[in-house]
Amino acid sequence: MSAPVVFLIIVLVVCATSWGAATAVPTNADDAAAMQSIANSTGAAKSLGWGVRSLDPCAGTWSGVRCGDTGRVTSINASRGGLTGMLDAADLSLLTSLVELDLSFNDFRLELPKPSQPLAGLRTLDFRSNNFVDIPDGFFSSFPALEMFAIDDIDLSDALVLKDDVATCSDLRSFSANNVNMNDVFPNIFGNASLFPELESLSLARNQLWGVIDLDFGKNGKINFQDVGAQHSISDSKLGGILRFITGMENLVELRVDHNSFGPLPDATHLVNLRSVNAAANDLCGIPKFPAGTDVDLDGNPNVGKEC
Ligand SMILES: *[C@@H]1O[C@H](CO)[C@@H](O)[C@H](O)[C@H]1NC(C)=O
Ligand SMILES: *[C@@H]1O[C@H](CO)[C@@H](O)[C@H](O)[C@H]1NC(C)=O
Ligand SMILES: *[C@@H]1O[C@H](CO)[C@@H](O)[C@H](O)[C@H]1NC(C)=O
Repeated sequence: MSAPVVFLIIVLVVCATSWGAATAVPTNADDAAAMQSIANSTGAAKSLGWGVRSLDPCAGTWSGVRCGDTGRVTSINASRGGLTGMLDAADLSLLTSLVELDLSFNDFRLELPKPSQPLAGLRTLDFRSNNFVDIPDGFFSSFPALEMFAIDDIDLSDALVLKDDVATCSDLRSFSANNVNMNDVFPNIFGNASLFPELESLSLARNQLWGVIDLDFGKNGKINFQDVGAQHSISDSKLGGILRFITGMENLVELRVDHNSFGPLPDATHLVNLRSVNAAANDLCGIPKFPAGTDVDLDGNPNVGKEC
């Protein structure tokens, strides 16, 4: 390339860069400090290159980090990012514009991070497959706008996952805590549509839940997917009760209650949205009555087809 052409390219690059910088709002200093600290403390500087090419988390060089046009960090997706350690609660507290935090499939330890004051705009928290052991008290109160929560496949030593404050998350649309060693009476609170009017998806499979599901569970609510299958209770108490609770769940599309102790089959023919039911290996009896075309698995219920 001739010298003038090279010069022209340099001028164009410099102009484009400074024009870009001039139009963008500078990154919030608290957000930048918090993200730099997180980059160091979780190993993201090494594994995701955070802070390596630019110390500015909104520079576009921080993999999985997105910012709004006000210079605030709005989304962190470090799923399968090779991260470890703890996400410092003080750092999280600074990220007051955060909407989405996905830390799934990493090696985070100890407690879930709980900010010192509520993060009013946070809607998505995904902590699946990590090595957390505890959900701190008041955790859910810190996320009053929470819509999606996922914490599957974590061996929580604090098995009473659901502190009462989960009811402060009245915008919840999806709550997923499969296989977290939850050893507790079934949390019927989720079936209260005045507390969770937006709840569409509830997954609590493969825990140690016991007790009965209330007959009016999910009544007048929006739940369309519910998986409470395969509770492996360590005592003799099992999850069961009358399967009739589903008859109030008009929006139900897919139900999984397999490998529990549910009793008589309900008449579910009016549940017109129903597509799939897995109720294998329970204590069911009676004549199956489901809408035509529903995929129903009732294997391992010797008394199905017989009178109860
Ligand atoms: C992150 O680590 C680098 C290198 O060790 C250090 O210079 C920097 O001050 C640290 N930043 C924060 C916010 O801890
Ligand atoms: C984070 O990124 C992964 C991989 O690209 C994606 O599957 C996941 O849906 C993202 N998380 C969120 C909350 O968007
Ligand atoms: C549902 O929650 C509301 C509000 O807390 C409460 O008044 C009501 O008694 C609850 N309903 C059931 C069936 O527990």
